Amino acid sequence: MESYNFLTLHRDEARHQYFSDDISRAPFFDPRTKTWIIGNPVDCRDIISSNKLIPATYAEDYEALAERFGVDFSNLIFAFHYIPLCLSGERHAHIRMAVGKFLAKRRDMVEGRLPELVARHLGAFRREGRIEVMGDIVEPLVHEYTCLIAGIEPEDAKECHRTSQIFDKSSNLNKRKAMEAEIASLRTMIASRSEGASDEEIGLRLAYFILGKDPLKGTLGSSLYRLLTEWAGSPLTEVEFPDYPPETGVPFIERIVIEPFSHGGTSFEPGNRVRIFLQSFSHTQSPLGRSNFFGAGSHACLGRPLSLSFWNSVAAYLSASPMRATVLSHTPRTTDYVFACPDVLSVDVTHA
Ligand code: HEM
Repeated sequence: MESYNFLTLHRDEARHQYFSDDISRAPFFDPRTKTWIIGNPVDCRDIISSNKLIPATYAEDYEALAERFGVDFSNLIFAFHYIPLCLSGERHAHIRMAVGKFLAKRRDMVEGRLPELVARHLGAFRREGRIEVMGDIVEPLVHEYTCLIAGIEPEDAKECHRTSQIFDKSSNLNKRKAMEAEIASLRTMIASRSEGASDEEIGLRLAYFILGKDPLKGTLGSSLYRLLTEWAGSPLTEVEFPDYPPETGVPFIERIVIEPFSHGGTSFEPGNRVRIFLQSFSHTQSPLGRSNFFGAGSHACLGRPLSLSFWNSVAAYLSASPMRATVLSHTPRTTDYVFACPDVLSVDVTHA
């Protein structure tokens, strides 16, 4: 396994070979990331659902950093208290229920707006020309969609470019300060627009924006890149858009072991960090479907229905276009180590 760099595998083309090669490989410890690597889809599914592990810590880490460097991270710490993915036990159960209720209430309204939103942003796929898919289409479309879900004015969050990167543990202090400033300004905007809103209402809105933005952006960008490459030369009307996106923007998730357990002959001890590669579900050899991109068990994604409606709406619009789209260039994003997302995806659109 030494030939692979598990810090960057998720954005490296070599990952396709890795996930196709030996899907039954056992977990192993990677010294570079200091995590146990889980790349076998069946293990991924079992371990992500297990209650012997909990999500990695975030609020506590920022509390420690604030103390050590004398820096104010109070807004980041506030946000982490409302992101279910970063919580455990009773607090998690309470916040998860609140999120579930909020999203269920908004679902009809949000889905009702999707066709107009998609048609307005994807129009460039129906006329000849060169487009920068990430900057000109995916970013503004996902920004508007995420704000719609969260009930935030898109204008209020327009300077929030790195919000979801708060999950990146490798950020330096300056980047963390910039994230704190972004979250602080978004929190102030949300509060000023919703007079009398409780901390929980404000915190949850922050959480929806943070949880939705980069996963949607990465999933859409990476999936379009894969499909347009695999179907190079075919008119968009002939591209088979699958019901589930073929790639995920959330390539892996990390957990910490809290109770010892054994899995497939490997023993895990409390304190061990485990990196579960959800990208392993994107390969045809995987015995498990891509529905697992959304996780499983007590932390399974609550944004799954809205994410699938989004994908299917984009797919329906593109597959009705009488054009051909040819990938000219693609560069993966390298500014964080958490999401899989193209930075650049340039495409030439011509009549089919
Ligand atoms: C294609 C886009 C998306 C993907 C691939 C995705 C993936 C995931 C994954 C893998 C998890 C579980 C993480 C874990 O077990 O540690 C998760 C959790 C979550 N996602 Fe998503 N997500 C997407 C979009 C969204 C959207 C749009 C929302 C809504 C705002 C959302 C809300 C949530 C929430 C609330 C959780 C935490 C659940 C909990 O911890 O109880 N997600 N997501």
